[in-house]
Amino acid sequence: MAGNSANKQIVLITGGNQGIGFEIVKKLVAEQPTYHVLLGCRALSKGEEAISKLEKLAGLVSPIEVDVTSNDSIAACVAQIDRQHGKLDVLINNAGIGRHAVEDLPSLRAKMAALFDVNVFGVMEMTDAAIPLLKKAADQGSVPRIVFITSEMGSLGNTLNSSWKYYKSNTSVPYKSSKAAANMIGACYSTLFQNEGWKINCCCPGFRKTAFNHHMSNAMDVEEGAVRAVELATLDKDGPTGTFSNIDGTEPW
Ligand SMILES: NC(=O)c1ccc[n+]([C@@H]2O[C@H](COP(=O)([O-])OP(=O)(O)OC[C@H]3O[C@@H](n4cnc5c(N)ncnc54)[C@H](OP(=O)(O)O)[C@@H]3O)[C@@H](O)[C@H]2O)c1
Repeated sequence: MAGNSANKQIVLITGGNQGIGFEIVKKLVAEQPTYHVLLGCRALSKGEEAISKLEKLAGLVSPIEVDVTSNDSIAACVAQIDRQHGKLDVLINNAGIGRHAVEDLPSLRAKMAALFDVNVFGVMEMTDAAIPLLKKAADQGSVPRIVFITSEMGSLGNTLNSSWKYYKSNTSVPYKSSKAAANMIGACYSTLFQNEGWKINCCCPGFRKTAFNHHMSNAMDVEEGAVRAVELATLDKDGPTGTFSNIDGTEPW
């Protein structure tokens, strides 16, 4: 971390130590000198290692421990942000797991439970816990933003469209269901805070080469997976809310 965090916009990203989350951190820290990014990680050592790889530091960045499957961990993270910064301007719900992470589990129920624990319950609990800090930012004149990194795989519109490029992936029912539920959480929160002017949006990073899919050779490079998320994390009062999009435009819900 460099400099002083006073008067900075405070951003928390879950799962920021690798993959798409780390690309989002890189882009925010390189492009936003008025931001202080809290890089969420399950192990501080992983967060510190990720930060040591950052080349361009315009804004600030520091690691913060958070495991979204633990309410104690979420509460400790929120309390630390409150103590150290007194507010949160932006929450990016990025932490997530896919089918590879659960393939060794013994039953469909166990796989579903593990996927939903991170991708749905974790997102819901993290968001709910962050609301008081986002309200504190609003009280100081900020426009709170929440970005949900979901997936085109969670789109009901895509799923039912037989000409969709991943129509054959409709066999990934547990993961797709978890991302559909995450989209619903984002959509609900966007309406709950619409009148207050908060900017709450979902986005799909696209199929990107990360640990999530064992860096599959047909996946796209990870860098551009951060673009839409960063646009949504840096919206001002005139920006959209209640949308689902990707780098190219609107996604069907
Ligand atoms: N890659 C794709 O093609 C793709 C496509 C569409 C959507 N997405 C979504 O993009 C997001 C990021 O995925 P990615 O591809 O960057 O995956 P990744 O490289 O595997 O990174 C996932 C991140 O989430 C963290 N994480 C996992 N479980 C967590 C938990 N319980 N609490 C807190 N953090 C946790 C991981 O921490 P550790 O390092 O400690 O494991 C890691 O930092 C996910 O929500 C995923 O569903 C990815």
